[in-house]
Amino acid sequence: MRIGILTGGGDCPGLNAVIRAVARQSFSSGHEVIGVRDGWRGLVDGVIEPLGPREISGLLPRGGTILGTTRTNPYRVEGGVEHVLEVFAREGLDALVAVGGEDTLGVAARLYDEHAFPVVGVPKTIDNDLAATDYTFGFDTAVAIATEAIDRLHTTAESHNRVMVVEVMGRHTGWIAVMSGIAGGADVILIPEAPLTVEQACAEIERRHERGKDFSIVVVSEGYELSYESGESKLVAGDARSTDQFGHVALGGVGDVLAKEIETRTGYETRVTVLGHVQRGGTPTARDRVLATRFGLKAAELVTQGRFGRMAALQGDRIVDVSLAEATAELKTVPPEWYAVARAFFG
Ligand code: F6P
Repeated sequence: MRIGILTGGGDCPGLNAVIRAVARQSFSSGHEVIGVRDGWRGLVDGVIEPLGPREISGLLPRGGTILGTTRTNPYRVEGGVEHVLEVFAREGLDALVAVGGEDTLGVAARLYDEHAFPVVGVPKTIDNDLAATDYTFGFDTAVAIATEAIDRLHTTAESHNRVMVVEVMGRHTGWIAVMSGIAGGADVILIPEAPLTVEQACAEIERRHERGKDFSIVVVSEGYELSYESGESKLVAGDARSTDQFGHVALGGVGDVLAKEIETRTGYETRVTVLGHVQRGGTPTARDRVLATRFGLKAAELVTQGRFGRMAALQGDRIVDVSLAEATAELKTVPPEWYAVARAFFG
């Protein structure tokens, strides 16, 4: 078989480990592996490159993706889907492994459904918001980076008696905020799924200061809507005009607004740190390397078995496969019981 592989959407640590695992397993079954450049754009524009043992060597610890990535949506490009099908046939490809999040895999699910396109998926995203898998790879690394930042902010917050607001990524789910906040001992965590009001957040900080703690750490997820007791709420977007081909608005900036609110309302000196793309950069944790490797092997197995329209997934400690349709039907949000763990340490 000639097996294509692409990585789409935001990059994340572990993508190269998946590429390596898919290729190694496919080579040992006697298949050829072709890298598709820059996500779905590579199939729209016909930009591909063969992957051999040399190309996939040294990939385990390497962050980013050697194939490049974009947020190209063939369904939003004139003639995009037709190009994908043409290029796929012209290059003699028999199967495609799509490594991505809800958007990249949403395209895969639709192509499979509408054109019986021979594709299998691998769930990637630092946001951990894909349904049907307990965890996506990349998430553990992002949480480790955010936790380290929170640890570092603790010492400077304490020295200056300040409130430190840390803005983390995660888009419309608060997984990174909750996990890094629990691990780092945050005093308040604000996420889209459990919108604590600004007044409640300030009350938690004041309660803590009344207990004799002169500094606080507040972790806020970029997708948290500032909400107020009046019932008003507002989503802070980096640039309201900038949306990608999947219609997502660029988030970012809520930390700044929140820090000003906290300082004004409590009188405590407040600073903000926006972690941004640092959370997606660099080498994957051991856990992400292992998960990415297991997902890659499963994807190669699904291809060899001709079980298309499926996605590798983690359920408990087992790697299983689920339908792409099921995996992309809805976002996996933070359940109340996880937020309750975080909340037990507020104030
Ligand atoms: O989906 C991953 C993610 O890092 C989100 O957490 C974030 O909102 C978005 O991508 C940022 O996208 P970009 O890399 O296009 O700025």
